[in-house]
Amino acid sequence: MTSFADDDARLAALANEHGTPCFVYDLATARSDYERLRAALPARVTIAYAVKANPHAALLRTFADLGASFDCASSGELTRVESLASGRLFFTGPGKHTAELKHALDLRARIQAEGFEDLERVEQLAPSRIAVNLRVHPLAAIEESTRILGGNGPSAFGVDEEDLPELARRAARLRRVRIAGLHVFAASNELTADRLAANHAAVFALARRMVKEFHFDLEQIDLGGGLGVAYAPGVAELDVVAVGENLERLLAEHDWFQGRVIVEPGRYLAARCGVYLTRVVRTKFSRGTRFTILEAGVNHLLRPLLVGQPFPVRAIGVDGASSPTTLAGPLCTSLDRLGDVDLPALDPGALLAFLRTGAYGATEAMTKFLSHPEAKEIAV
Ligand SMILES: Cc1ncc(COP(=O)(O)O)c(C=O)c1O
Repeated sequence: MTSFADDDARLAALANEHGTPCFVYDLATARSDYERLRAALPARVTIAYAVKANPHAALLRTFADLGASFDCASSGELTRVESLASGRLFFTGPGKHTAELKHALDLRARIQAEGFEDLERVEQLAPSRIAVNLRVHPLAAIEESTRILGGNGPSAFGVDEEDLPELARRAARLRRVRIAGLHVFAASNELTADRLAANHAAVFALARRMVKEFHFDLEQIDLGGGLGVAYAPGVAELDVVAVGENLERLLAEHDWFQGRVIVEPGRYLAARCGVYLTRVVRTKFSRGTRFTILEAGVNHLLRPLLVGQPFPVRAIGVDGASSPTTLAGPLCTSLDRLGDVDLPALDPGALLAFLRTGAYGATEAMTKFLSHPEAKEIAV
């Protein structure tokens, strides 16, 4: 059966029906991506979808109906899921406002504290004794293939591992807050199961240190997100069955830990279901470069500019040999680029489909810049 993203006739019909530019999210694809991951992971692993990847209501409902928990990083994200997944919420973020912390506590979301200052505020705000997770920024052993979260360098996230002794000493004086979980997320878009396994092993080693040296009673180990999606042709997909097997082995090796493991995938669950449809406005040659200028650029898709990785793109209903072209948007800046890709000759009005744009697509764009209309978002 032709997959949604490969079905040119359907994509062309959707573009005609809804107009362009628009994001289309195929819920059947989202469902099967979730089910593949769920089937691959050990039963002791909770999947908390990272809402930031795509907060579209239909997608959130789809994952909630499948039993997902949710990783939220703002009050706005909590609001989107609070009625869908009561008791299945996590609240993370390096700059939590006090009102947001109150909101999360009211919802009984599990707080991922990013430092002593978060612990102190929870101590003030919590109505009764409360267990929280502590986000730690590891000293070493984490590798990141695309720089998104920053690897082992200085970080806005979590407590630096070297500061743990001091934090543990101060946290011992808190009466209401109990550190009962570890959260580490330092590498995004990883495509090899082995590299993820090495990162996960480093987190478990750190967890053991927290138990042995600081006597924290850990109920949860949150491994963050980072399950990758291949954007470039010829790049192999992440083998999630291998990820699950590696986690099973890790749990067996660390049988001192009998709590729950959390993963917070955003990209893996949301990327493939999304296709962004847009049309060519005009083309031009300039000093040897073929520019294809589109209805929208970084005001709808910022990720290629941020991380230097274009989304896969296809011309719909256009045949002919492909040649290099620079995709540009209509904004008055030479930063308005969606990548250098190979496409056939394109006339004004030709339809392009950008694939795997369901994660960090609409949600990450610079929508206000130059006051163009926002892209429509349609769930099918
Ligand atoms: C705390 C946290 N959890 C989960 C995610 C989702 O990561 P990914 O989309 O790489 O799975 C992010 C992304 O930035 C994050 O910051």
